[in-house]
Amino acid sequence: MTRKLRLAVLISGRGSNMQALLAATQAPGYPAEIVVVASNKASAAGLETARAAGIATAVVPHTGFPSREAFDIAMDAELRRHDVDLVVLAGFMRVLTPEFINRWPDRIVNIHPSLLPAFRGLHTHERTIEAGCKIAGCTVHIVRPELDDGPILAQAAVPVLEGDTADTLAARILEQEHRLYPSVIRAIAEGRVSIDGMLARINEAAPTAQPLLNPAP
Ligand code: GRF
Repeated sequence: MTRKLRLAVLISGRGSNMQALLAATQAPGYPAEIVVVASNKASAAGLETARAAGIATAVVPHTGFPSREAFDIAMDAELRRHDVDLVVLAGFMRVLTPEFINRWPDRIVNIHPSLLPAFRGLHTHERTIEAGCKIAGCTVHIVRPELDDGPILAQAAVPVLEGDTADTLAARILEQEHRLYPSVIRAIAEGRVSIDGMLARINEAAPTAQPLLNPAP
């Protein structure tokens, strides 16, 4: 049997994307496994979920280090200790240094709750509503040193509905995040992703020509 792709999932909070990945990895034949869930916050709720599922956890408190570099070196050591193949950021609220990112070339992925390159950074749902967008979504991308930048692997789109608040929109997008992230990680584990500079492509992905019009004509 070929070795499964060894994932480290980095979280800072709730960890619902981690949980969706965990569920995916528990299905027979899924080609990746979570070997450690790491957090910069001991209070991250997702750590408990991971522990309950028997997954190793690691807390690297960012407050315990004199610099961003020192924190990143400690996190890097933790990941190497678990012989990690792919670093999966899932609500990890720390900006990683270019040095850390360069130590994991094209081996860090992130999920962001907007259709990148629109709305990089924080408060994406509020900003999407304020901008009057009719369609929103989420993006899984390879992490490069610029914030919320890097080759786009996949996106999911949802409508923004009349009367949406940041919370209702976030919930609609989150549901799609939970579908998108496990499917992209499967593609990576199956060796179906190719990256050329800033462009990424998932081979043999089922393309959809299904448009999303909102409001519908
Ligand atoms: C998600 O919306 C993700 O896109 C963003 O942070 C949130 C994390 O949620 N990067 P959870 O901790 O996975 O529930």
